[in-house]
Amino acid sequence: MNSCISFILDQKIIQIDFSKELKLTPTTTVLNYLRSLPNHKGVKEGCAEGDCGACTVVIAERDGKNKIHYRAVNSCLILLPKLHGKWLITVENIKNSDGSLHPVQQAMVEYHGSQCGFCTSGFIMSMFALYKSLLPNTRTVIEDALTGNLCRCTGYQPIIEAAEYALQKRKPDHFSQIEKEIISNLKRIVRESIKIKTERQKYFMPVTVTELLNIKNQNPDSIIINGATDIALRITKKHEPIPSIIDTLQIEELHVIRKSPDHLYCGSAVTLNQLKDVSKDWFPAIYEACSVFGSKQIREMATIGGNLATASPIGDLPPVLAAYNTEVVIVSANDARMIPVDQFICGYRRTSLKNGEIIKGIKIPKPVNESIIKFYKVSKRKDLDISTVSAAFRLTLDKNRKINEIKIIFGGMAEMIKHAEKTEKFLLGKIWTRETIEQAMPILRSEFTPISDARSGKEFRSIAARNLLMKFYDELADT
Ligand code: FES
Ligand code: FES
Repeated sequence: MNSCISFILDQKIIQIDFSKELKLTPTTTVLNYLRSLPNHKGVKEGCAEGDCGACTVVIAERDGKNKIHYRAVNSCLILLPKLHGKWLITVENIKNSDGSLHPVQQAMVEYHGSQCGFCTSGFIMSMFALYKSLLPNTRTVIEDALTGNLCRCTGYQPIIEAAEYALQKRKPDHFSQIEKEIISNLKRIVRESIKIKTERQKYFMPVTVTELLNIKNQNPDSIIINGATDIALRITKKHEPIPSIIDTLQIEELHVIRKSPDHLYCGSAVTLNQLKDVSKDWFPAIYEACSVFGSKQIREMATIGGNLATASPIGDLPPVLAAYNTEVVIVSANDARMIPVDQFICGYRRTSLKNGEIIKGIKIPKPVNESIIKFYKVSKRKDLDISTVSAAFRLTLDKNRKINEIKIIFGGMAEMIKHAEKTEKFLLGKIWTRETIEQAMPILRSEFTPISDARSGKEFRSIAARNLLMKFYDELADT
């Protein structure tokens, strides 16, 4: 049993053997690991739930073209074994070898982007990942990269200006010089099955789907994790000692993205950032949903499979996937099947997965030209927030504006994502006019009994749902 993980930190290969470790466990977060070291205390803990970005670090790894890809992530949500085969970069590594500041640090100084400094190392790491990317220097790109970092004293304008300035001066830095050496060191770390067993916990990292299914059969109570941005909260907030975990991170088959002429296939471990990028042309409503999903740091880790498996009634992805007629690809040791997303989720945090089955991926059919698909999210703020209500619509009209197909799917209105079935039935075959929509309103009102909670009252939810249908109508009327 290999209970050892290896990764690069401070340009050295670090090995952690959990069978010999007294202080670290497989569910120790990268944040707590770093804070336990004498020379990596620049990383800060603010919320320990992925909301503030004070704990941002960069994880770099080889991409398919043997280049290094840098991602800013929330170290408070990352479990230590997930570092296996990766390069961990912290704020202590950013300055140049002669002691001078990296361009992103220098820009923060020149533009007065820091006051108390508690948030600053997190901002620096997000800006550094952006600096190392090929993304353009636009306000939208910068705001998206910094959405997951909160600052309570400086104000965002100087920080955004610092990022703009640093990106204008983008050029190879000292990381560019060591990438070759890092790549050869990363190659020395073998992608192999890891099985960590401590007195209280088991943590498996299989490398194939077959191995994953075997482990799951032998350990039926194990939790399967992908990005673990949700499950990690049980560790950081509820302090649960999760006894058995199967981590799919190393299974290449689950990271596959394949575009065919009539559909897109994504493995269940594809991240929401990858889904966002790949859906821009064919599935603009998915692109829209992913754009307002958490923060960039969260989307770098959170996966399609994780979002579906949690079956949250306010999950943003399932309604829009359902509008695109997405099917979930499920496999077990002896079988494989596909099921529409809206049937896959079958109750409050319940899915139709049977014992021994896992989510292998999703298949999204390319919509035929005349279908119009839109996604809307109502939340207290635009970014990094949980939906109060979300809605996805799919509409096909004939040349006389008769409704040939209508799908209306809400999140946040019931114990699970739900179609407005009676409203759909009423609208089908009618002419798409404002009057028709107004006639549908009482039906829509009657078929949901949303709850009141910390995010909103039930009456607000009910009104918001009706307004979203009207918004959908109005937007199409304007085109
Ligand atoms: Fe707030 Fe990690 S500590 S996002
Ligand atoms: Fe104080 Fe940002 S400088 S929180």
